[in-house]
Amino acid sequence: MPPPYQLPDPTQRPFARTNVQTIQQRAALLHELLPNTHTIAELCCGDCSAQDEIYRSQLHIERYVGLDLQPEIVVANRARGIESVQGDALDPKVLRRFVDFDVIFFGPPLSIDCDGHHGLDFRDITPGYADFARLLLADLHFEGTLVCIGPKTTHLGDAQWLSEQIGRGRSDVNLRLIHHSYSTVTGAGANTEPRLKYVELWFSTRLANAWEVRTSGLDNAPVTLDAA
Ligand SMILES: C[S@@+](CC[C@H](N)C(=O)[O-])C[C@H]1O[C@@H](n2cnc3c(N)ncnc32)[C@H](O)[C@@H]1O
Repeated sequence: MPPPYQLPDPTQRPFARTNVQTIQQRAALLHELLPNTHTIAELCCGDCSAQDEIYRSQLHIERYVGLDLQPEIVVANRARGIESVQGDALDPKVLRRFVDFDVIFFGPPLSIDCDGHHGLDFRDITPGYADFARLLLADLHFEGTLVCIGPKTTHLGDAQWLSEQIGRGRSDVNLRLIHHSYSTVTGAGANTEPRLKYVELWFSTRLANAWEVRTSGLDNAPVTLDAA
């Protein structure tokens, strides 16, 4: 039996929300790498009000749609005016609705109960990256860019493993970018030293197989010298 999906406690909303600095970084990457992006889907979206606002104001977005399994989250997103769908990201009937989008962000829960404390390893996360990518790319023939949002522990071996899994069903999907996103704000909005938040794998049928490793969010970090 597959492991259960992790759902956030609706009273602990910060952990179902991506920090604003990471979203700004994603917008900058989209602007640079995919300037003709008009439609973005956010699957396992949580509270995606910041994404909706930033992408619409900084990119030429015609449609931004979120998907989440938890009904309370979908109701809250809709109440903020965001187009939102309720359903399981691994349900082919649900996922089919998103195959015509230019860019799909897939951001499954990275911790137990989405509590932000008890992190899961890349290959233990559900819905799983390989299952999702197989469905989207091999079964539903998605043409575009799939950004798999991974935990901060994601390493090159995970990227290679997922790349191989995808390659079994599709030979034309490239890994353009491995993006390390640092932030100086916590999920609750407090300031911190720069912390690695996510490692994103930018797979695409439109971009080159560059495997570029890039870091965002460390530019203004204070320089610390080893005492050695
Ligand atoms: C913690 S949020 C992630 C927010 C944002 N995508 C990010 O990367 O920071 C994960 C969301 O996934 C949702 N979720 C869990 N399992 C899901 C599934 N099978 N299909 C769709 N959404 C799911 C949860 O309800 C939760 O809101």
